[in-house]
Formats: sequence, C-alpha cells, structure tokens
Amino acid sequence: MLQTARPRDPSRLLHLGARAWFLAAMLGQGAFIVFILWFFGGHLASGDLAGLNAKPHVTGYVPGDLAGNVQFVGHALAGALVTLSGAWQLVPALRRRWPRVHRWNGRVFLAIAVLATLSGFSLTWLRGSQLGIGSTLSISLNGLLILGFAWAAWHSARRRDFGAHRRHALRAWLLVNGVWFLRIGIMLAGLLLAPLGIKIDYTGAVFVGVSFASWLLPLAILELYLRAERAAPVARRAVGALLVAMAVLTLAGSAAAAAFMWWPYLRKQDAVQAISPTAPDASATRAAPRRSSHPRIRPLWPSRRAGP
Ligand code: HEM
Repeated sequence: MLQTARPRDPSRLLHLGARAWFLAAMLGQGAFIVFILWFFGGHLASGDLAGLNAKPHVTGYVPGDLAGNVQFVGHALAGALVTLSGAWQLVPALRRRWPRVHRWNGRVFLAIAVLATLSGFSLTWLRGSQLGIGSTLSISLNGLLILGFAWAAWHSARRRDFGAHRRHALRAWLLVNGVWFLRIGIMLAGLLLAPLGIKIDYTGAVFVGVSFASWLLPLAILELYLRAERAAPVARRAVGALLVAMAVLTLAGSAAAAAFMWWPYLRKQDAVQAISPTAPDASATRAAPRRSSHPRIRPLWPSRRAGP
C-alpha cells in the first residue's frame, strides 16, 4: 500500500516519512502482538483463566460466565491476529513476492476484523464492558467505521478498482489499529501530563479525548498523505515532515506502552508460572467475581498496575 521511494523523486521526504512511520508502527504493533499472545495465549494454554485478571480489564474473566469469557479471550486473541495480518498486507516486498498470499491474507484480515468488531460490540453492549459514555461512544463509532471501510475495501477489490481499494483498505487498517493507537496515545498523554501532576482517569476529558483521537487523528493524517501524493512539492514536504514527527511519537508511545503497560504483566506472569504453572494469582482470584458496567476505574497513569 505504501509507495516506495525513488532516488530523485521530488516526493522523497513524503516517502521517507511514510516509511519511518510504518517502521515505528511495526515495532509498536509487534510489541502489542507479543503481549497479547504471551499474556492471553499463555493463560489459555496453562488453563489459568482466573490469572487473566492479574491485569486490569474492563470486565475481564468472570467465573461461570462461559459465553462472556469465550468472547473476551477470543476477542483479545483475534486482536493479535488481525494486527499481524494487517501488517503483512502493507509490506510492499511481501505483496510483490507473494501476490496470492496478499489476496488470501486480505480476506483473512477483513474476516477477522469483522469478527473482532462484532465481538467487541457484544462485549460492550451485551456484556456491559463499558468505562464511561465518552469512550463507549468512541469505540462504537470506531467499530462502525471498521465495518464500513472493510466492506468498501472488499467491494472495491472485487470491482478491480485498485485505487479505491488501496484507500479504503488503509482506512480499515488504521481503524482496526485504533485499540493500539489508544494505548500509545494514553502513554504519550501520561508522559506529558504526569510531570504536571495531572492524573488520567477513564471517565475524564483526557481519556475521552485520546479515545476519539486514537482513530480520528490517524484517519486525518492518512487523508493528508493521500492528498499530498498529488499535491505541490511544498505540501509533500510538509506532510513528509509531519510523518517523521509522528514516527518519533509512535516510537516513544510504543516504548512507554511496552515498558509500563505490557512488560510488567509478562514478567509477573513468568514469575507466577515459574513457582507453579497453574497457581492462580492472588489478586486475580480477588478480582474475578466482579462484573459491572462501571468496573475497576483506576487512574491510568502513572500507576504501573493500571493499563487497559
Ligand atoms: C477490530 C479491532 C479491535 C482490536 C484489535 C481489539 C483488541 C482488543 C484487545 C487486545 C483487548 C484486550 C485488552 C486487554 O484487556 O488487555 C480488547 C478488549 C476489549 N475490546 Fe477490543 N478490539 C477491537 C475492536 C473493538 C471494538 C470495535 C469494540 C467495541 C465496539 C471493542 C470492545 C472491547 C471491549 C469492551 C474490551 C474489554 C473487555 C474486558 O476487558 O472485559 N473492541 N480489544
């Protein structure tokens, strides 16, 4: 999907910015995928589902709620798969080398994106996993747009309108990654606001603002990028510079998310499993019976124990 740079191309900075941002995103998404597979996959493989609550969730694992738990764990694992599948689609070398894999993986990406979105709607609106009206509205709009652009990407590919397909698929991919953008956005907001003594909580303006920005901002920057491809050199350079800045922010937010949001739970999980492969975590056992549409609302930052 991303264009490759040619040496004397007047759009060099634009392509460089796009590549730099994509590389930063791949590193950050890689860390997110490793976390999901290790944390959720690890607990699933060891049969210690109550241990999932060692980390804060909106509702999380609830003893006896088979349907809800299946959706919760299935949704998280589908999140890892769709992130992985989406990343594969955008690497130009892979697309060129294995075009048939691109077509099949594209179908897989769209199918998992739709399933993850539908299970997300079910978790939010049927299981009642909500943090507050603002963030619920944001994730629901994000979900509706995923469905819309996934359909548009599939439909335009079937019509062999590959220009439209590229645009819609890129939009669908960014929207699917809204969940990952939210995490790095919260980390960046925390890095900025913690020194000022401002705490971020799930119902406050900062969290709701970052929730909407997590999908609106990437969509807006993509539109700028698509327009810049055909714009005057000065506009291409400006958008290129913007993408370089976004690459730096993406890298910083991803590093912070990996260090504070994901790694502490993987380290803890390893320690628990080293003592006893099936020993349930004490805090997990305490947290498990809770089931509420206004669950454990804690400050998101700077506590190392908190994180979506
Ligand atoms: C398709 C892209 C999506 C991906 C990749 C994704 C990924 C994830 C992941 C990895 C988690 C587990 C987070 C954790 O607890 O550590 C999660 C939780 C959740 N997601 Fe999604 N999600 C997506 C779309 C949605 C949508 C569209 C909605 C709502 C309409 C949604 C609603 C939820 C809810 C409510 C939870 C919390 C469940 C709980 O903690 O009990 N997701 N998602």
